[in-house]
Amino acid sequence: MSTINLPAPSELHALKKMAIEAAQVGGEILQKYAKAGFAIEHKTRLSLVTDADKESERTIVAMIKKAYPTHQILAEEEGIHSDQQSPYKWVIDPLDGTTNFTHGFPFYNVSIGLEYEGTCILGVVLDPTRQEFFVGERGNGATCNGQPIHVSQVSELGTSLLCTGFGYDVAETADNNLDEFCRFTLKTQGVRRTGSAALDLCYVASGRFDGFWEMKLNPWDTAAGVVILEEAGGKLTTYDGAPYSIYGNKIIASNGHIHEQIIKVLQAPA
Ligand code: IPD
Ligand code: CA
Ligand code: CA
Repeated sequence: MSTINLPAPSELHALKKMAIEAAQVGGEILQKYAKAGFAIEHKTRLSLVTDADKESERTIVAMIKKAYPTHQILAEEEGIHSDQQSPYKWVIDPLDGTTNFTHGFPFYNVSIGLEYEGTCILGVVLDPTRQEFFVGERGNGATCNGQPIHVSQVSELGTSLLCTGFGYDVAETADNNLDEFCRFTLKTQGVRRTGSAALDLCYVASGRFDGFWEMKLNPWDTAAGVVILEEAGGKLTTYDGAPYSIYGNKIIASNGHIHEQIIKVLQAPA
């Protein structure tokens, strides 16, 4: 097993403080626009972007650049903000759950992940509506508002509550997860589609869901959530059981106990 290098504890502490402060400021920006109103643009028919996404990203990126001018930064709206040579790479979703946000459905978050030497080592996800701060630190556990969180103990798919999501090309391709959604709906206690992948991962991490699967996500959707999930005792793979990468296409995140059962359903012929 390869070992993961980590920054010195004092450095990690400062990075975590930075991520938490930036997420807090991003969350305040989202709530400001949620109250005051915002303009909406269409990237595609279903994929939206608002003033809130843009200002949240600009502000978070500026804070990180000021504190760590040599770090790499990848964020959803502007892509690569800084591609310096550095072992550190911040991966940011300034508003995960934009469709929910535009409808006033209060389920969205700010997600900030940090890679060190290619491994996600830190994740902060803030749900500003509930003021729930999920934090995962490689080797040091996961918390929600400072309290340790853990995955559930559910061991049978039949009594599990799962969640999933659909890509913005759902109406344009047959490879759109609807078949899988039907199969799991018939085999579990329920399947939820929340519209916020980062919170889906945090909810598996805190035992509110027992498992999650989705395809066609982007690195900023999962960079923070994967650390929180793994540090809460969860398991992460692709659909065939291989190790998951935030740059890959398919994710299964579970409490570990039902992981093989999820893989089996996903691999069943359509
Ligand atoms: C989306 C959400 C949603 C998932 C989509 C993502 P966005 O992110 O995480 O749950 O199903 O695939 O694109 O666009 O709201 O940041
Ligand atoms: Ca997202
Ligand atoms: Ca987003």
